[in-house]
Amino acid sequence: MEYGCRNKTVVITGGTSGIGLAAARAFWLDGANVFLVGRDRGRGMKALTRIIGCENTEKFVFPAADLARLRFIAADVTRQADCRMAALTAGYYGKGKIDILVNSAGIYREKRLERVSVADYNQIMDVNVKGTFLMIQACQPYMLPRAEAPDEAGKETSAEAAEENRNGSAADHIEGQDPKTIKDRCIVNIASDAGIGGNYGCPVYCASKGAVVSLTKALALDMAPDIRVNCICPGDVDTPLLEEQLKKAEGSYTKEEMGEGYPLGRIASAEEVAHVICSVASPANAFMTGAIIPVDGGLTAMG
Ligand SMILES: NC(=O)c1ccc[n+]([C@@H]2O[C@H](COP(=O)([O-])OP(=O)(O)OC[C@H]3O[C@@H](n4cnc5c(N)ncnc54)[C@H](OP(=O)(O)O)[C@@H]3O)[C@@H](O)[C@H]2O)c1
Repeated sequence: MEYGCRNKTVVITGGTSGIGLAAARAFWLDGANVFLVGRDRGRGMKALTRIIGCENTEKFVFPAADLARLRFIAADVTRQADCRMAALTAGYYGKGKIDILVNSAGIYREKRLERVSVADYNQIMDVNVKGTFLMIQACQPYMLPRAEAPDEAGKETSAEAAEENRNGSAADHIEGQDPKTIKDRCIVNIASDAGIGGNYGCPVYCASKGAVVSLTKALALDMAPDIRVNCICPGDVDTPLLEEQLKKAEGSYTKEEMGEGYPLGRIASAEEVAHVICSVASPANAFMTGAIIPVDGGLTAMG
């Protein structure tokens, strides 16, 4: 699938697993320079090999230039210093700019109100809300026109460089693409249907995803016209997060039973959600900002 993201610099938190990993692969196949952000270096390396479709390093078939378009950055999104270092690293390799930030890092905890400790509350809010906020704050300078980017980006801020950043460089040029869309910069936050309509047994998770929805709308206003900010709200998606949820439920329900609750009769694959992420981030959607997009097989349409 082509999204028009060739040569764009894409940072994906949670890029080592599930939805983020699927999005990373789709962006990479589209020709983007992709940076996966996660806490664990081992998981990061494994994710890189999964993206290129080969877990045996002796069998690499891609040209070195394609492999160089894919990197892992170890960072915990709950730590401001880590977020700044991740943005700095991606910004440096991205020649001073980051085009697309996908905030997919997130955790789910199923606990009713009476069982939620302050530590549980802080953990969920820290990753899902503060992590999203800190990554946006850290990446913003690299997403603005270059004249406003900080010195750490390692690039001079001449009038010529600033103009190039605003309008896109020759290297960004894509056959048949409107040059206006080359300067398109976009943030895609991953919330949840639970952030729109609520859900049983996970009040803090719902609150955290509701906050991501609100943050998206507020920042879409504040960051316009330089940066688009949109939010995707998946229903249940077949990822390690869901596997963990099922394990904790100890067989009280299955994936198939979860799917039966959806108008479309099933849950989503990570690739289906990744497709929507890449579509929203595509410069072809340069007029879309502040949008909250359910990808939930019709679940929220039921009211
Ligand atoms: N799966 C679903 O049914 C579903 C439904 C609706 C919404 N969502 C949302 O979609 C997003 C992705 O979920 P998923 O299902 O793909 O989950 P997943 O497979 O468990 O992946 C979660 C990712 O987040 C990263 N992460 C967690 N804590 C982090 C931290 N403190 N710093 C940096 N990275 C961190 C993990 O990397 P490391 O562990 O390596 O750090 C991993 O790459 C989440 O925000 C989730 O709430 C999922």
